[in-house]
Order: sequence, then C-alpha cells, then structure tokens
Amino acid sequence: VKYAATSKLLKGKRVLITAGGTREYFDPIRYISNASSGQMGYLLAESAYCMGADVVVISAPTCLKLPSQIKKIDVVSAQDMFEKVKELYQEFDIIIMNAAVADFRPQEYSSQKLKKDKENPVIQLQPNPDILKFLGENKRENQILVGFAAESDNLYQNAVDKLKRKNLDFIVANPVKVFSQDFYEGMLINKSLNTVNISAKNKENAAFEILKIIFS
Ligand code: CTP
Ligand code: CA
Repeated sequence: VKYAATSKLLKGKRVLITAGGTREYFDPIRYISNASSGQMGYLLAESAYCMGADVVVISAPTCLKLPSQIKKIDVVSAQDMFEKVKELYQEFDIIIMNAAVADFRPQEYSSQKLKKDKENPVIQLQPNPDILKFLGENKRENQILVGFAAESDNLYQNAVDKLKRKNLDFIVANPVKVFSQDFYEGMLINKSLNTVNISAKNKENAAFEILKIIFS
C-alpha cells in the first residue's frame, strides 16, 4: 500500500513540508549544520500524500528519497529555504516546518578553500532569519501552521513558548534523544494547549499519528 492513497483525510489539501538540516557554508566544502536526518519530514510528506494531499517538500540536504508523486525542491542554507518558503507559502493550506534550520551562519564566506595556516581560527556567526516566525506573522486565513521543537530539557514549556512566540496552530515536541532513533516519543500541543502524547515504535507510525490527530 505504500504510496497509494490510504485515506481521504487530506484530499484536496495542499501541504508544504520543510525537512532536513540546513548547511551554512563558510568555504566551498565546509559548513555548519546539525544532526537532523530529515527522516520525520520525509515520512510526514509520504503520510500526507497517502492521505490524499498534494505535497511539496522543501528539503535541505539529506540522504533520503521521496516517491516521484511528491515534488521536492532542494535548498542548502537557511536563507535559500527562506527564499523558497516566501515564494510558495501562500499557495498552501497546511505548512509543516520540520526542517532543522541553523540559527546562525558564518559571517564570511571564502570562495577559496581555507588553509590551516592559523593557530586558533575563529568563525564569526550571524543570525539567520526565523522562517517559522515569518510564517506565523504572515499567516493566511485558515492556513494551518505546524512547528517542531526538539529539546534537551523543559520540553513542554519550551514548546509552548515557541508555539505562542511563532503564532502556531500546533507544535510537535520531542526530546533530543529521538534523533536518529527508530522509535518515537513526543507530544503534540495545539494553540489551546491541549496536549496529546505520541509514542510509536517507528517514525512512520508517528508521522501518521501526528497527521491524524491534527486533522481529525
Ligand atoms: N525555525 C525556523 N527558522 C529558524 C529556526 C527555527 O523556521 N531560523 C523553526 C523550526 O523549523 C521549528 C521551530 O522553528 O519548526 C522551532 O525551532 P527551534 O530550533 O526548536 O526553535 P528556535 O526558535 O530556533 O529556538 P532555540 O533554537 O533557541 O531553542
Ligand atoms: Ca533553533
């Protein structure tokens, strides 16, 4: 049944999903990034597709593949992702911001590969745009905005703060320990602060569960 429509819950809905960890290059081959595999974002895309949605994924680099029925737009940095999101977000009913966007990028980019000629080299950083905050501030009527939070501590409170600060409809919060694990545990919080715990033996089931709760 994989990639065949298995339910009609999202029939006719246009869903935009961002996924992967952005890369912030400071020379042609070196970058700052994070440990996001993109797996959850890709599984959410497949699940949404199986529920009948039209799905577009804006993806930072990952090792993963998507079925051809799901349109994928490749980006590298947070700024690239922001440009694509700004170009497209108005067309979508549902936006799921699963990407692990680098909060900072190197201030300088060297088009020549840096040499190891400094004893204690320093990389100065500058802030990246907050894409989800922009989406929260420019939300279209009836547009559903879903964010993610991976936290090492104070999971619930940090997630609620982000939900409010970014004007989200839902936030999916999980402890950082589910990074690169098969199993999933976390919680889904809506803007009335109703909270549902999610625990699944794999992320495929978790993705399906998350969408089912959001759209039922
Ligand atoms: N996000 C984003 N743009 C950024 C940073 C984060 O769109 N520059 C989105 C992520 O995709 C996620 C949500 O915001 O859906 C929360 O990301 P997170 O890193 O947990 O929150 P931050 O606001 O960056 O706060 P901090 O990293 O300090 O916890
Ligand atoms: Ca962050």
